[in-house]
Amino acid sequence: MASTLVRRLQGKVALITGAATGIGESTARLFAKHGAKVLVADVNDKLGEKVCKELGASSASFVHCDVTKESDVEAAVNTAVDKFGKLDIMYNNAGIGGIPNPSILEIEKSEFEKIINVNLVGAFLGSKHAARVMIPNRSGNIITTASTCSKIGGGSSHNYVSSKHGVVGLTKNLAVELGKYGIRVNCVSPHVVPTRQSKEFYKMDDKEFSSVYSVLKGVYLQPEDVAEAVLFLASDESKCVHGHNLFVDGGVTIANSKFSMFE
Ligand SMILES: NC(=O)c1ccc[n+]([C@@H]2O[C@H](COP(=O)([O-])OP(=O)(O)OC[C@H]3O[C@@H](n4cnc5c(N)ncnc54)[C@H](O)[C@@H]3O)[C@@H](O)[C@H]2O)c1
Repeated sequence: MASTLVRRLQGKVALITGAATGIGESTARLFAKHGAKVLVADVNDKLGEKVCKELGASSASFVHCDVTKESDVEAAVNTAVDKFGKLDIMYNNAGIGGIPNPSILEIEKSEFEKIINVNLVGAFLGSKHAARVMIPNRSGNIITTASTCSKIGGGSSHNYVSSKHGVVGLTKNLAVELGKYGIRVNCVSPHVVPTRQSKEFYKMDDKEFSSVYSVLKGVYLQPEDVAEAVLFLASDESKCVHGHNLFVDGGVTIANSKFSMFE
């Protein structure tokens, strides 16, 4: 007998930044499958519009949005409300990867700021404008993509690791402020996922990507796995989860693979 899909986001409206590719795209597809109306927001118009075309006009719509520009973020949130009547879920996912030369002696201030601007200031602006329309409704759900770099050092350059630690601080502080309005705030922390960003940065092939999951054998994280975790945070199944950083990492951050008595 064919199983019937329980649509966990039926009637919900979601805005996802960085949804033209990678984790954001997978999440947009999964949210639409679960009945949400999705506003795909990205600087990549061509790929963003392609995703929306594939999902269909009744499920998804594209808005050009550079998350470092407050006017773009404000307009994207307003578009969600104008087009779909409300905003239930804000997923701050847009992000850029670290830089190849990580030395503190080499990194330029402008390089440091560029990543902080997209990964942290972008999440701040998304949360601010989402809160603006969620507070009057006394409900809402804000989720941001952090990273295992929000917990451990050495996985990327200083600017990237700082930006992702910042996302956790922002998440906790927002959870304290917005909880009283019934707005939940969480973040999700994937380890390495083979997307455009990580392939460019780590220059690894599939075999090398899969080898980083040394704790839980057989795990090789894909964008769809992160999307499933975001769906959990976005749906009522996680109604008591608040101010949390959900690691989707096959246990990578719980162990030091070079110092383990179970090797
Ligand atoms: N891939 C990984 O290994 C990994 C691991 C942990 C966390 N992350 C995080 O996941 C998120 C998504 O990354 P991904 O791996 O899917 O990469 P990706 O490059 O496939 O997707 C990132 C998307 O963000 C968009 N974007 C970039 N700058 C933007 C801006 N200023 N405004 C709006 N959109 C912008 C890009 O156009 C792209 O569509 C990022 O926050 C990233 O830091 C990725």
